[in-house]
Amino acid sequence: MHGRPAFARREVLRGFAGCTAGLLIVELAGAEAGSAHGLASYVQNSGLVTERPKPLPYQEIPGFLSAQQLAPHHAAHYGGALRTLISDENQLEQLLKSGQPLTTPAFGALQKDRVNRANSVVLHELYFDNMAARPSQPPDDIRTALARRFGSLERWADDFRATCMAAGGWGILARDAVNGRLYNVASDLHEVGVLWFGQPLLVCDVYEHAYYVDYQNRKGDYVEKFLQHIDWGEVNRRFRAAG
Ligand SMILES: [Fe+2]
Repeated sequence: MHGRPAFARREVLRGFAGCTAGLLIVELAGAEAGSAHGLASYVQNSGLVTERPKPLPYQEIPGFLSAQQLAPHHAAHYGGALRTLISDENQLEQLLKSGQPLTTPAFGALQKDRVNRANSVVLHELYFDNMAARPSQPPDDIRTALARRFGSLERWADDFRATCMAAGGWGILARDAVNGRLYNVASDLHEVGVLWFGQPLLVCDVYEHAYYVDYQNRKGDYVEKFLQHIDWGEVNRRFRAAG
């Protein structure tokens, strides 16, 4: 029931007048839900695993993106995000080992920056990997799924184009792991949301509505009690399901 969104990729390049790029579709297929193999192709060379930038699969895409465009994007933006992520991780690791507390704002800034950078790494890797030099046609699986969801491939393209135009950061086709539906979504900040592909294992609601009746402004007391009342059996089941 907590099956992972398996990452069976179906790549398609289409040229769209009025949109900045040919669009490649990444399908997060449900067919392999629960499989430990679904993310294998992504995980293998991700900078999140190797701590080194995943190489570009090309130097340029003639007629679309030049080497002058791609190289600094890959090296400075993607590579920079990965370098900062590693730095954030190291700082947080040192904090854990040393037990030396940061102020809450400083700790919060570091935590949020880590998520920002990690999401930037993931999104850039998906982006670079879902472009190709030659146009192709959607295979039946994704074509059928998009037509079923959006009415037709063309209507999906219209919606995706509009999503790209409306987004300040990313336009994304995604499959929601809960209801299995496809969505075109706009994301303006890497850190809004949680880690892409992340599957929640333990969740604590820290909105005031979750504790104010019992704890008023004593949020720390509420969190401490929460920690004492974790159903670790359920957490472990989620962990195992995530592979
Ligand atoms: Fe970028």
